[in-house]
Amino acid sequence: MIKNRSIVTIDDVGDDDLNEIFTAAEEMDKLIKSGKKISILESRIMCTLFYEPSTRTRLSFESAMHRLGGGVITMADVKTSSVSKGETLADTIRMADAYSDVIVIRHPLEGAARLASRFTSKPVINAGDGSGQHPTQTIMDLYTIRKELGKIRGLKVTLLGDLKYGRTVHSLILALSKYDAKIKLISPPSLRIPEYLLHRIGDKSSVEVLDTLEGNIADTDVLYVTRIQKERFTDPNEYQSLIGSYSVNNNVLESMKRNSIIMHPLPRVDEIAPEVDQDARAAYFRQAANGVPVRMAIISKVLGGI
Ligand code: NCD
Repeated sequence: MIKNRSIVTIDDVGDDDLNEIFTAAEEMDKLIKSGKKISILESRIMCTLFYEPSTRTRLSFESAMHRLGGGVITMADVKTSSVSKGETLADTIRMADAYSDVIVIRHPLEGAARLASRFTSKPVINAGDGSGQHPTQTIMDLYTIRKELGKIRGLKVTLLGDLKYGRTVHSLILALSKYDAKIKLISPPSLRIPEYLLHRIGDKSSVEVLDTLEGNIADTDVLYVTRIQKERFTDPNEYQSLIGSYSVNNNVLESMKRNSIIMHPLPRVDEIAPEVDQDARAAYFRQAANGVPVRMAIISKVLGGI
């Protein structure tokens, strides 16, 4: 049960919670389409604290709360807040606690959301902590797979890109391992998934670590692409040397099954060519759109609205 609880990692969301969120998100989707006024969270307030850039995550969280009839206060940019005067995370969280009922935080440091949760009795939702995790993205990724392909269990899923620093793939791989997914991990050798995650998966799922797309995705059901996380590199030359090291284009599509899908948490830089957007298998914009009903379901469950 996630009622009144923080969601810092994907481990905070049990299997039953996930199924309940999927069902609720389907309901939310219908409610949105019906155009009816929704008052599930009337008079509740969500505070979004974004210490890092965001488009989809913040906007879809805020859209979700508005759709539920609740209010939103936001610190979308640290430069215009007292963080720029040197205020600590702890003190900022104490204020968010005083002004709202649920706190959504994105921060460049791994562990920041966990730390934040120690300074408030209100639920904290991690919207990305450095190279740590991005649990609500994972929930909408799973929802998207289920919606697009009818199931999650046993699928062949290939994760491609920056698996070292990409927080979306870190929480996703842990979740997929609970669904007996057959996982392929394809990245430049210097951007492989951290060892601690491979240890956590253990023998729960089959995992293959590979260097190249070629010849490896003919049987893939889901190709999940990520960008190289430029902002995490300490050496800009290292980032420069990796630019363009993988790309999904029409040639790659030709080697994939007809009933497969391509996902990406977005933003993309150059790792998926625009020509791919026309293909029915390109699911990334549908995936991003799922952010609203899924986050409506998450916020209302956390605040006990449904
Ligand atoms: C991702 C993130 O911030 O981790 N974006 C998102 O939330 N959809 C992926 C990324 O920035 O590459």
